[in-house]
Amino acid sequence: MILVTGGAGYIGSHTCIELDNEGLDFVVFDNLCNSSKESLKRVSQIIGKDVKFIEGDIRNETDLQKIFDLYDIDSVIHFAGLKAVGESIEKPLAYYDNNVIGTIKLCEVMAQNNCKKIVFSSSATVYGDPHTTPITEDFPLSTTNPYGRTKLFIEDILKDLFTSDHEWKVILLRYFNPIGAHKSGLIGEDPNGIPNNLMPYISQTAVGKLEQLSVFGDDYDTHDGTGVRDYIHVVDLAEGHVKAIEKIDSLENVLTVNLGTGKGYSVLDIVKAFEKVSEKKIPYKITARRNGDIAKCFADPSYAKSVLGWEAKRSIDEMCEDSWRWQSKNPNGYKNN
Ligand code: NAD
Ligand code: UD1
Repeated sequence: MILVTGGAGYIGSHTCIELDNEGLDFVVFDNLCNSSKESLKRVSQIIGKDVKFIEGDIRNETDLQKIFDLYDIDSVIHFAGLKAVGESIEKPLAYYDNNVIGTIKLCEVMAQNNCKKIVFSSSATVYGDPHTTPITEDFPLSTTNPYGRTKLFIEDILKDLFTSDHEWKVILLRYFNPIGAHKSGLIGEDPNGIPNNLMPYISQTAVGKLEQLSVFGDDYDTHDGTGVRDYIHVVDLAEGHVKAIEKIDSLENVLTVNLGTGKGYSVLDIVKAFEKVSEKKIPYKITARRNGDIAKCFADPSYAKSVLGWEAKRSIDEMCEDSWRWQSKNPNGYKNN
């Protein structure tokens, strides 16, 4: 049985479906601080069976021990964490507490129960402002905000754990920019309040909830001056986790892998692709750069292919189409429509 922490969230809920597709059994553990039970109900609807769920906080050892008492957990996919960069600057202690302390508690309880296999959600944010692109896993690491630092600290903590005890099997997955949604339109990204990230901002503009997109800067050194990122379909990302879980038993060292497509699209490329598939006009204005943003970030995904036998398959049009289907069918996300 696989324990999926943060499994009610955006990437976790999509991963549950792909685990089930591969016949892998799982239990979700989530404190619902950034999600709701509705996402799991919909996962149940898609997979045609109940989802095992325990509500609890990764910082609470009693909550965690309950899962190990109830289920025979073989490995953990660890999504649970706070992820908003701006908020992390305002509330650094909350981020260090939730993400870093939470992961330490999780690992302690895992070790007490002799479960030592973990796949961790890291981020391309650990590459800071890369000196060049595409980005390979051996690039220098740096970060400019508390959220990014939690990812770097946790990567180091998990590496130290392996050094101290080679029974640990650790996979660090560095995600690029996940967008898109499950084909059914039943599950997708449901940010609280006004979205910070590009795709939810665009799709909420398309559905009429927001007036206009602000494009943060058009004077970057990119093909059209707007920021370039490696957008990856969340279902491709979810499939990457299945490959990681299938690989984990054979590890002899900590494995660190980029999950991206290798293709970079600008903000305006995404606006155009979204307009084409949705047949909606996205009003936008060019504004100042956002603090902390970088010009260009995209992965070299070749290591993922060689080591996990995984590569992203879904196109940018498909990502926009699926984001749009989710948003138009659920204008208010999981809240009552
Ligand atoms: P999300 O917020 O939708 O999902 C995270 C889930 O974890 C939520 O359901 C939340 O309720 C839960 N959670 C948070 N703190 C918890 C705690 N203390 N105990 C139990 N549950 C807790 O976010 P997501 O986009 O699905 O991201 C999943 C992971 O991937 C996060 O660790 C995030 O930092 C990482 N990541 C996300 C992105 C992205 O763009 N979405 C990019 C890189 C890395
Ligand atoms: C952001 C985070 C990063 C995190 C990632 C996924 C920052 C500085 N970085 O990455 O740490 O891992 O989300 O959660 O917050 N854009 C606009 N207008 C908008 C929103 C975004 O022009 O309203 C532009 C940005 O300038 C950027 C691109 O769109 O060029 C993508 O932005 P976003 O979706 O926020 O992702 P990142 O900045 O790559």
